[in-house]
Amino acid sequence: MKLIVCKDYEEMSTVAADIMADVITASDAPVLGLATGSTPVGMYKKLIEMNRAGEIDFSGVTTVNLDEYYPIAPDNDQSYRYFMNENLFDHVNINKARTFVPNGMADDPEAACEAYEAIVASVGAADIQVLGIGQNGHIGFNEPADALEVKTHVTGLTESTIRANARFFASEADVPTKALTMGIGTILGAKKIIILANGTSKHEAVSKMLAGKLDTSCPASMLNLHADVTVICDEAAYNG
Ligand code: PGA
Repeated sequence: MKLIVCKDYEEMSTVAADIMADVITASDAPVLGLATGSTPVGMYKKLIEMNRAGEIDFSGVTTVNLDEYYPIAPDNDQSYRYFMNENLFDHVNINKARTFVPNGMADDPEAACEAYEAIVASVGAADIQVLGIGQNGHIGFNEPADALEVKTHVTGLTESTIRANARFFASEADVPTKALTMGIGTILGAKKIIILANGTSKHEAVSKMLAGKLDTSCPASMLNLHADVTVICDEAAYNG
C-alpha cells in the first residue's frame, strides 16, 4: 500500500482530487467508483471547482457507488443517491443516466444486489475506486465479521455504524438498519483504489489496515490484496 500523510483535511482533499482528475483526463470514458460519507466531501468540492474551471470534463464519465441504505427512497435527503446528487452530480456536466447507486427501494433487495453486481460488471472495471473507512474498519457497508462477502449483498449495520451515522438523522431510531453494498471482491475489482481517512477517530482502523494482515475484524485490511492502493490520510488519522 502506498501511504500519503497530509497535514490536514484540506490538503488530503486536494491530493485525492488531483489523483481523480488525472484518472478522469486519461480516458474518454472513465469509470469512477464513488463513496459517500463526510470524508470525500472536500474532494468532491475540489472536483466541482476543477469542472467549473474547465480543467476536467465529466461528460464521458460513468460512476458506480459503493452502497445505499435499505430501505430508503432516492429523494430522502439521507439516501446516498441524494448525497451524490447534492455533493457532486448536480454541479458537474455528468450524464446522470450513467451514475449508478444500488436501489434502496427495490421490492426484492437480494435481486437488486444481483442486478447491481451485473451493472458493475457491465460498465467494466472502475478506473479508480474511492473509499472512506469506518471507525470500525468497514469499507462500503462491509462490517467486521467472521467472514466477509465477496459480491454485492444485503447487510445489517452494526450498532457502532448506526451510532456513527445517527448524526445525519433526526434520531438513532431513524437510521436504516440495513444496506445494499458492494462486496470486498466487487471493490477489489477496481484498477486503482484510494482510501481517505481523517481525524483521530479513524486512527485505530487505519493502523489495522496498514498492519499488512488480512483481518476480517478490519474489512479495510483486505485492500492489502490489491496491487494499487493509496491511503491518503491526515496526521490525526495516522498518528492518533
Ligand atoms: P465518514 O464515513 O466519511 O462519514 O467518516 C466513512 C465510512 O463510514 O466509510
